[in-house]
Amino acid sequence: MFNEEIVASFKSKETPFYYYDLGLLKKTLTACKIASDAFNFHVHYALKANFNERVLSLIQSNGFGADCVSGGEVKRAVESGFDKKQIVFAGVGKSDTEINDALDQNIFAFNVESVQELEVINELAEVKGKMASVAVRINPNVDAHTHHYITTGLDENKFGINSWDLPMVSETLKRCKNLEFLGIHFHVGSQITDMNVFKSLCVKVNEMQHWFEERGMPVKILNVGGGLGVDYHHPDEEAIVDFESYFQIFADFLIVKPYQEVHFELGRALVAQCSSLISKVLYVKHGIKKNFVILDAGMTELMRPALYQAYHQIDNISKLKVESLKSKNEGIETFNSSPSTLNYDVVGPICESSDCFGKEVQLPETKRGDLIALRTAGAYGEVMASAYNLRPAIRHAYSE
Ligand code: LLP
Repeated sequence: MFNEEIVASFKSKETPFYYYDLGLLKKTLTACKIASDAFNFHVHYALKANFNERVLSLIQSNGFGADCVSGGEVKRAVESGFDKKQIVFAGVGKSDTEINDALDQNIFAFNVESVQELEVINELAEVKGKMASVAVRINPNVDAHTHHYITTGLDENKFGINSWDLPMVSETLKRCKNLEFLGIHFHVGSQITDMNVFKSLCVKVNEMQHWFEERGMPVKILNVGGGLGVDYHHPDEEAIVDFESYFQIFADFLIVKPYQEVHFELGRALVAQCSSLISKVLYVKHGIKKNFVILDAGMTELMRPALYQAYHQIDNISKLKVESLKSKNEGIETFNSSPSTLNYDVVGPICESSDCFGKEVQLPETKRGDLIALRTAGAYGEVMASAYNLRPAIRHAYSE
């Protein structure tokens, strides 16, 4: 992701900023497209992971659909050129205004999360004299084995409709004249690295489609959500996720009939590795037990470590040194980690103790003015930024 030329180009830029490697994004999108096309699977990109305009424009032009969770995201997807027939609208709390706007846009489908929401969409569609296409989000009670804040598919989570409510769902769908039942939707969580989770999901999807079809309700769309994890510990070596193995699981375990389409909603796996948050070292403090590197970026620019204790690799890119590695990535740029390596707690400037990017991080001896890259920040980085402490708006840099 980095070379001396790129780092030199950063020197004149005001920090902090998100740096996007659009070349890597393109390669990732191509890899995903080839792997999904092989099975005729459809991928809707989950805008919530990153809605940067240049990122969206590339994703759209590579033929992906859009998975949105707010009226704002639906609007942004339309503005970015996504085909309306490839836009889905999910979310546990859609407001009437959001539903009306989406009906006006004639989007592909609503992923509906409760029986009451079915009734509301039906009423609003009736007023407009329209049919609303809906997929029902079912809570499969599958444990994603990921951080509890990003687990969504358990009975105890607020998302989706629990299996014991399904008779009410089918009764409502049959009664509501302005709803067209398209299919079923699932999403069990995010940053899933254990592929067995997806196998268990397939088993549930098969059970559920059978349940509906037995009741004379054909299931045209099987939407299995997103959640594929990335390697935060090896951003260079594993820059592109193994999409082939991921899709192969669904090809092997999902029962797909000729009239059915399989949809995915990937966010993180498409965008996480293509961006780093670039920050400058403001101060270095040497304590008795600890050394601190104080950055000009904080939890306001990248909240994941503070919120989920998430790991992001931290590189001092001012100490970039080209080494020919003996690994499969021969010739990549790496970082001089010897001989003068020290342990630092890398923290931000925000008035919160949780504003810490990493403890005991081994870095080459670091000085005021050095540039630090917080890696794998393309997903749920920029989008979760806040203005807390009246921080300035996010800045950007791009390479093609
Ligand atoms: N579909 C639904 C219904 C979702 O709720 C999500 C993510 C996705 C798709 C996309 O999941 P992905 O492929 O990106 O894992 N802020 C957290 C992640 C929250 C994920 C929310 N839902 C983080 O920084 O890890």
